[in-house]
Amino acid sequence: MESAEIRRRWLRFFEERGHAVVPSASLIADDPTLLLVPAGMVPFKPYFLGEVKPKWSRATSVQKCVRTPDIEEVGKTTRHGTFFQMCGNFSFGDYFKEGAIAYAWELLTSSVEEGGFGLDPERLWVTVYQDDDEAEQIWRDKIGVPAERIQRLGKKDNYWSMGVPGPCGPCSEINYDRGPEFGVEGGPAVNDERYVEIWNLVFMQYERGAGTSKEDFEILGELPAKNIDTGLGLERLAMILQGVQNMYETDTLRVVIDKATELTGVRYGAKHESDVSLRVVADHMRTSVMLIGDGVVPGNEGRGYVLRRILRRAIRNMRLLGATEPVVAALVDTVIKIMAQQYPELETDRRRIETVALAEEAAFLKTLRSGTNILDTAVTETKAAGGRVLSGDKAFQLHDTYGFPLDLTLEMAAEQGLSVDEDGFRRLMKEQRDRAKADALAKKTGHADLSVYREVADRAGATDFIGYTDNSAEAEIVGLLVEGVSVPAAQEGDEVEVVLDRTPFYAEGGGQIGDTGRIRFDNGAVVEVRDVQKPVPGVFVHKGAVQVGEVTLGSRGHAQIDVSRRQSIARAHSATHLTHQALRDALGPTAAQAGSENQPGRFRFDFGSPTAVPTAVLGDVEQKINEVLARDLDVTAEVLPIDEAKRQGAIAEFGEKYGDQVRVVTIGDFSKELCGGTHVHNTAQLGLVKLLGESSIGSGVRRVEALVGTDAYRFLAREHVVVSQLTELVKGRPEELPERISGLLGKLKDAEKEIERFRAEKVLAAAGELARSPEEVNGVALVAARVPDGTAADDLRRLVLDVRGRLGSRASVVAAFSVANGRPLTVIATSEAARERGIKAGELVRTAAKTLGGGGGGKDDVAQGGGQNPAAVDEAIGAVRRLVAERAV
Ligand code: SER
Repeated sequence: MESAEIRRRWLRFFEERGHAVVPSASLIADDPTLLLVPAGMVPFKPYFLGEVKPKWSRATSVQKCVRTPDIEEVGKTTRHGTFFQMCGNFSFGDYFKEGAIAYAWELLTSSVEEGGFGLDPERLWVTVYQDDDEAEQIWRDKIGVPAERIQRLGKKDNYWSMGVPGPCGPCSEINYDRGPEFGVEGGPAVNDERYVEIWNLVFMQYERGAGTSKEDFEILGELPAKNIDTGLGLERLAMILQGVQNMYETDTLRVVIDKATELTGVRYGAKHESDVSLRVVADHMRTSVMLIGDGVVPGNEGRGYVLRRILRRAIRNMRLLGATEPVVAALVDTVIKIMAQQYPELETDRRRIETVALAEEAAFLKTLRSGTNILDTAVTETKAAGGRVLSGDKAFQLHDTYGFPLDLTLEMAAEQGLSVDEDGFRRLMKEQRDRAKADALAKKTGHADLSVYREVADRAGATDFIGYTDNSAEAEIVGLLVEGVSVPAAQEGDEVEVVLDRTPFYAEGGGQIGDTGRIRFDNGAVVEVRDVQKPVPGVFVHKGAVQVGEVTLGSRGHAQIDVSRRQSIARAHSATHLTHQALRDALGPTAAQAGSENQPGRFRFDFGSPTAVPTAVLGDVEQKINEVLARDLDVTAEVLPIDEAKRQGAIAEFGEKYGDQVRVVTIGDFSKELCGGTHVHNTAQLGLVKLLGESSIGSGVRRVEALVGTDAYRFLAREHVVVSQLTELVKGRPEELPERISGLLGKLKDAEKEIERFRAEKVLAAAGELARSPEEVNGVALVAARVPDGTAADDLRRLVLDVRGRLGSRASVVAAFSVANGRPLTVIATSEAARERGIKAGELVRTAAKTLGGGGGGKDDVAQGGGQNPAAVDEAIGAVRRLVAERAV
């Protein structure tokens, strides 16, 4: 049975049993505790925790997932993939253990004709949590699984949580016996390779707190309801239903292996090592395509780093298989073709995906060349010092600066007989990751622990945001925090976080920064609001300081945003939409949004483009935007079902997770985008948009920065003043400025050349004079002279070398002195014959410079120095003469 059919059957089965079919969320998790979605339940987490009330009591999905902790195992075992699809059915306080178990059994064992998967019940084994008598009894008595095929396991295997605070509960796993060729019998407790886990039923009923691992944590209490979260690995079931040995040979991955074989000529099945490489290529290329499809771009942190590492491992493995040419284009094409059967958007986004992947391949191949040199040098140095282990620092540097994955460093070091200090490397990596994680979290929320905000939400419900229509509101404090801790009251001077029951303040999101303003309380207290964030869904946290008086939980007051700042932000946000559309019109759909930031009067907009956008194109885009402004287009917002919004062609942002109902912002007939931000009412309010230019911010991603409204006007006015000053200076019209200035620069260059020529002539003339009458000092020809003030060191050098040349091959010393900018300078040269007699320029300069009150030095043949005391030049000449006399005897 094909993977696509497994997916269809799954969704149909649960849909027929009253489950809402929910499309897969983006791999980019909308959850600060996660980088990427690792399980099907992630999008439903707020429902399990009771933070948000679901619209349905049962749902089903086939969720794209990425897990990377076992990346080193990929290709070596039969069932570790980085990307996989988790088929899930979920109950939010609806059916519980018995319902979940009965559905699972029915779907797995009913025949293919009846819509099931037709698995032989005799081959199914189940595990339950050690003290879960209830689950065991359902399996045995209600379903009829023989007691000997039910095993009890501990927390490690049969208790599920996300590894971090959140929902959790005991679970029951269904395993399939693949037969004696996969090892000893005894059930999943004994052999999880033979009795492979296919489906995990989690009885999600508790909330876990912090802890050290998946096994060690405390239970904070019961969830508001008893829920079901199940996850069936689509690839694992495909492996069984397609009768193949491992998941890499299932239909969607095998084609990628075949393509890699075609590109390298290495047959699958020829050797263990090359088989592992082929499987790594298949798995990693698919994961890379899916990640890029969801808007991840390669980078050095977070998700970007996950993608970079995976894609580079795939390329490196292709090279281990013997590929010497670029391979990514062909492999991406294969992945897109097969995966688009389930995810058609991959075809639509093909150009963008290819561009990002190809740019990363080019960067990596370049890196590979320069990193290889660094690695080779480090290996040579380590060996020269008698070491056998490449330092963790070096491995980290290769990784951090040259993008070398550790396994690449390991392999390449091993080829030269060295191991690598992996612990040292991992320590440095962890430090870096911890820093990045803490930074990201602290930036968003100010506090790593979100439970305090959840408590506010539990107690007071979601904040009522009225800022689309109102700039101020009468509101009550329902949550008050000082230093991340709930407090009953805060005093003048305290930094506070205030949660109101309703607010006109926009919380940072969708690229728009938070509002600022003031809350004046009925008792006279005032809180100055400097930022607003939404650390958990629905909770608007106003961050700022108590300026006057005391505020207490329950205080009532008047919340007022800074209206002109908000209007200025709104102008920037509407301008961003116009820029997005205009760029798409000019460059095609690859110019999709990759990020944005809307600030008062200015914005930046990041978008996909394989190359720099030519200035002329950017000029056209800017003109188009400004033409649209002048058309007085109305800007409207409405809430629509997501399908309707898509039907109307609204642009959605990559990686954003949207609910069923979405807000769509429309600008006349020009732009339609899913957006939660605040906008102007009419494009005329924007006045003017000025793009400041564009630049690269990573492979395949460009950034434009722009000014809007009066900020744009001020910028242009400033430029105008500069242009006026220049036209005044060069006496030309503005349009003549480039030509005039380049003419002036050319003249300047010619004049400099001329001056240079005069100088050289002057030096030569002086050289002739000096060379005519050298002193004889103990058989050495000495020229020691002071030349006109202002002669610079370069000219002195030219002079002494010229004089030395004129003196021929005899023993000679030429010392020239000058005073430039009030300081004495000297350059001294010796001929070869003089040097053979022990007369060295460096020593002479040191002596001269000492007399001049300074220092200097250089080689035996020419040296240079200087000092502080211009009056000592004659004395210095004397010192040189004496030293020459001394050395010459
Ligand atoms: N959350 C469980 C898992 O990931 C079941 O969906 O295995």
